[in-house]
Amino acid sequence: MFDNKIVLAGVKPTGKPHLGNYLGAIKPAIALGHRALAQGGSHYMFIADYHAINAEKNPAVLNEMLKEIACIYLAAGLDPKESVFYRQSDIHEIPEITTILYAYTPKGFMNKAHAYKAAVDKNREAGKPDDDGINMGLYTYPTLMAADILTFNTDIVPVGKDQVQHVEIARDIAGAINAHYNRDLLRLPEYYIDENVAVVPGVDGRKMSKSYGNVIPLFEDDAAIKKAVFSIKTDSRPLEEPKDPEEILVYQIYKAIASPAELQEMGDGLRQGKLGYGHIKNMLLDAVIAEVKDAREKYNYYMAHFAEVEGMLEDGAAKARPIAKETLKRLKDAVFGR
Ligand code: ADP
Ligand code: TRP
Repeated sequence: MFDNKIVLAGVKPTGKPHLGNYLGAIKPAIALGHRALAQGGSHYMFIADYHAINAEKNPAVLNEMLKEIACIYLAAGLDPKESVFYRQSDIHEIPEITTILYAYTPKGFMNKAHAYKAAVDKNREAGKPDDDGINMGLYTYPTLMAADILTFNTDIVPVGKDQVQHVEIARDIAGAINAHYNRDLLRLPEYYIDENVAVVPGVDGRKMSKSYGNVIPLFEDDAAIKKAVFSIKTDSRPLEEPKDPEEILVYQIYKAIASPAELQEMGDGLRQGKLGYGHIKNMLLDAVIAEVKDAREKYNYYMAHFAEVEGMLEDGAAKARPIAKETLKRLKDAVFGR
């Protein structure tokens, strides 16, 4: 599927990731990059910091979020020697290409984009004017995202369901430009959804999300992880009562992390009334700690030695820039008839 394909993924630096982000986005993104590389393809992974400024205006906060996200990807196994790992704002050609794409972006596309529509809906619910607090960065962000993708001749963009529309917009813009100049100036990207990635529930049973405050933290100490795991909702049924594992939240979360054998053990114990809530919470806790242990050490190392990470991001930008320059030149030559 990824034979010789160019796979590109972007991640917004948006505060400390939790276990749901890790299992549902970070680990799968890295695994997919490894798959692409193993199949002779290439893998671009970048931090979308120009996207982040639409929402976050405090430079100190932005900088900290960028550091965290860079260190997390490295800690989770991204290999910057194999994958091209860079910061969006280091590639000046991307905003320049965005400007050219604007001329081929129907305004109606932006009106229909999910992120903008969600912001408008929120305003309406709050009884505010439609465009209250909405800046042009948010409004036009699918065009910047299209430039992120098209700049690197991307074949495949791995995304969650919410981002499919944005990849389609990128494809449409590229198609419009190719049609206008009657040649293949830009490669048409496709999206890829990994159906095996599960939505991890939080400690209250809703989707784990920082906006619900129901998260199991990732790179904090064991005590913080333990506190979250032991706060997972349970009922007051006695240990001996046989239970359907599918109704037990601890088991639901365990599913996202345990091996089939471990999962079977917990499932059998619940069905047979041999495992109580204390037991299964300890099993989950052990699994979470085992999962994050190595990554946490690496994360702490990189956070304390960020100059090394800076070096990696600069090397990544140096690899990305020549490709971006080529794309920009191809576009300018066509647009300005040179
Ligand atoms: P949050 O809901 O905590 O704000 P984001 O919306 O910033 O998380 O999500 C960042 C990435 O993590 C997205 O790719 C999203 O699909 C993934 N993700 C977030 N929460 C979960 C979850 N509970 N289970 C699986 N993946 C998740
Ligand atoms: N919009 C994506 C998100 O919110 C992040 C992103 C920006 C991205 N540019 C991209 C993802 C290019 C894939 C390709 O998660």
